[in-house]
Amino acid sequence: MRILVLNGPNLNLLGKREPTIYGHASLDEVNAFIRGYFKKTEIDFFQSNHEGELLDKLQQADHVYSGVVFNPGALTHYAYSLQDAIRAIDVPVIEVHLSNVHGREAFRQKSVVAPVVRGTISGLGPYGYVLAIRALAHFAKKEKE
Ligand code: DQA
Repeated sequence: MRILVLNGPNLNLLGKREPTIYGHASLDEVNAFIRGYFKKTEIDFFQSNHEGELLDKLQQADHVYSGVVFNPGALTHYAYSLQDAIRAIDVPVIEVHLSNVHGREAFRQKSVVAPVVRGTISGLGPYGYVLAIRALAHFAKKEKE
C-alpha cells in the first residue's frame, strides 16, 4: 500500500506558526510521528504553498496511490480547483485539519473540498493524519475482499 500525505500553504511553518493552535512540532517532526505508526506502508510526503503544485500532485496520484491524506490549509475554504481535481481522480482522499476548524473563525467552517472527500478529520492534531491513513488502509483492504 502506498499513501500520499499532502500539505498545503503555510504548513511548512509548523512549529513556529501559532503554536497554541497548531502545536510545537515542525512539519518534519509531524511526518516522522506519522511514519512511526506505519512500518510496512510506503508513505510519501509533499508540502507546497502553491495551489498548482497541489493540483499536479493530486492528478499524478491517480492509479499510483491507494489513498491521499490532504490538509489543504487555507485553500480548503475557497479553492474550487482542488474540489475539481479530487472529483476527477479515483483515489480516495481524506481531508485532515490539525485544528478544530469548526470552533474557529466563520470562514474556516466552510470547506469546499468536503463534498468530494471520503471523510474529514479535524481538531486531533498530528494524530488526525495517522487516523486518516488507518482508515485508507481499512478501505483498501475491504476493496480487495
Ligand atoms: C488548517 C486550518 C486552516 O483553516 C488553516 O488555514 C491552515 C491549517 C489546519 O490544519 O487546522 O492553514 O488546515
